[in-house]
Amino acid sequence: MKRLRVALLCGGKSSEREISLKSGMQVKKALPEDKYEVIIYDPASDLAKLVQDASEIDVALVMLHGRYGEDGTIQGLLDLLGIPYQCSGVLASALAMDKVMSKRIFKMAGLQVPKDVVLRRGEPYNTAKIVAKLGWPLMVKPADGGSSIALNMANSEEELTQAIEDAFAHSETVLVEEYIAGREITGGVLGNKDLIALPIVEIVPQAKHRFFDYEAKYTPGATKEICPASLPEHLTQKAQAYALKAHKALGCKGYSRTDMILKEEEIYVLETNTIPGMTETSLFPQAAKAMGMSFSSLLERLIELALEERHV
Ligand SMILES: Nc1ncnc2c1ncn2[C@@H]1O[C@H](COP(=O)(O)OP(=O)(O)O)[C@@H](O)[C@H]1O
Ligand SMILES: [Mg+2]
Repeated sequence: MKRLRVALLCGGKSSEREISLKSGMQVKKALPEDKYEVIIYDPASDLAKLVQDASEIDVALVMLHGRYGEDGTIQGLLDLLGIPYQCSGVLASALAMDKVMSKRIFKMAGLQVPKDVVLRRGEPYNTAKIVAKLGWPLMVKPADGGSSIALNMANSEEELTQAIEDAFAHSETVLVEEYIAGREITGGVLGNKDLIALPIVEIVPQAKHRFFDYEAKYTPGATKEICPASLPEHLTQKAQAYALKAHKALGCKGYSRTDMILKEEEIYVLETNTIPGMTETSLFPQAAKAMGMSFSSLLERLIELALEERHV
């Protein structure tokens, strides 16, 4: 049987380049060689080659995070080249990447989100007014960031100003949010038309991390991930329903992972990731494993879903 030619896109230009390369290497290792011929393209250097090789490529696995990878740009290029891929299309990718836009959509879909103030680079802002609206502490984030990069908690006016400036160094739009104190959970969704909600994962960073920051995300052992999360059945169902609703509201395809905070009986949606981390121990693969799907089977399923979408 002819092997499927897979273009594995990893690396890229965003601040999450290193993480993407790590996902890419593990994905390559996990795909059985007798079925797949995997060719790696790093968009930072290999875009011309990708265009050249396009007619020979059966499917692309986009393992890029952040800007120029998860934001619809690469998806648009792949559409133009006629290469099917495992993740959401242009619109859903762009919407999910932009936390201001995606929160608007979540709200319209009836999902609860943290209250916020949106700041634009170059426009004046008044920290006292922000605090009056949102209280302390505050979470400050670039609108189109990821991996908690330039994302900070602020407990004083001084910290707030510093956090806003840090976030502006990464993005033209900055989101200041009320802090939701609760249990952090994340919900994966898999499928095109028939969607499956994966078991919910609870994320418990060590006490020295005040939230799921960059270090807590990528230092082995810094965070306990409990999968399936130990929640009462009705809250598990609610969280899964929220993940499905967020996925559908944005128009995602293939898979997604929605980050949420559970505060007593209430769930707040933080964001939806259209290309969740894909190392073997990442959250989405862990959740897949909890329902009996190995890392390799998950990747094969994503390839199947990508190809299925092409024939719709
Ligand atoms: N409004 C908030 N309330 C409490 N914690 C938050 C809030 N926003 C973000 N966080 C914390 O910061 C982490 C990263 O935020 P998130 O919005 O998911 O951005 P990223 O794209 O960087 O993952 C979350 O996993 C959570 O720990
Ligand atoms: Mg997140």
